[in-house]
Amino acid sequence: MKIGVFGTGMVGTTIGAKLVALGHEVVLGSRTRENEKAVAWARGVGKGASHGTFADAAEFGELLFNCTNGKGTLDALQAAGARAMQGKILLEVSNPLDFSKGMPPTLFVSNEDSLGERVQRAFPATRVVKTLNTVNCQIMVDPSRLPEPTQMFVAGNDPEAKRQATSFLREQFGWQHVLDLGDITAARGLESYLPLWVRMFGALGNADFNVKIVRAGG
Ligand SMILES: NC(=O)c1ccc[n+]([C@@H]2O[C@H](COP(=O)([O-])OP(=O)(O)OC[C@H]3O[C@@H](n4cnc5c(N)ncnc54)[C@H](OP(=O)(O)O)[C@@H]3O)[C@@H](O)[C@H]2O)c1
Repeated sequence: MKIGVFGTGMVGTTIGAKLVALGHEVVLGSRTRENEKAVAWARGVGKGASHGTFADAAEFGELLFNCTNGKGTLDALQAAGARAMQGKILLEVSNPLDFSKGMPPTLFVSNEDSLGERVQRAFPATRVVKTLNTVNCQIMVDPSRLPEPTQMFVAGNDPEAKRQATSFLREQFGWQHVLDLGDITAARGLESYLPLWVRMFGALGNADFNVKIVRAGG
């Protein structure tokens, strides 16, 4: 499959490398076509990996991943272009973290709105599925690094997009438990988990963890 990954940070490069290892072709998108990290990433990953602008990645991908910094997400997606993203599924991985006042970060949007909703509103013809934002990027692409199955979530307005996203997460990355939380407003909860995630990270001393839902009667 041809996949566009927006973002040259640890999330974009980790997801991109995993996708290429699985046999997909990936264009890693950046603000600049010759972004140093993207060039090095493509060289290191090899056949199937290339790089370009956000627009290049959007044009190329049949499936898209948004792995950009939350504060730059809307600008990055504007650069990617509404036309190139039209009708495509966008797995929305970003978090609205604000580090401007130091640690721990705050959320620059929450409660009555979310970054996932802002993305869906800005790009109504793109099928946004909020997912993967609740775990570290190593776990995103390899949940089996944890000793037992844990929980992934999806949220979005398009049921078929969520079904396809869930199959992709299961078959490609190995997520056995994917819970559909409903429409894109559920991104509020998924993003509001981050302050708790940051505290668990501090208390546990590393990012290699996730949550598991345990229910009575089912
Ligand atoms: N680290 C994790 O394991 C983890 C887990 C869950 C969710 N997330 C979320 O995933 C996203 C990516 O995280 P990351 O640590 O890999 O990378 P990051 O440093 O947060 O973001 C890097 C990407 O954002 C782009 N960017 C930054 N400012 C921009 C702006 N003003 N306009 C347009 N694009 C801009 C950069 O573009 P250039 O390529 O041009 O520099 C780059 O591609 C974040 O939203 C983060 O909260 C991270």
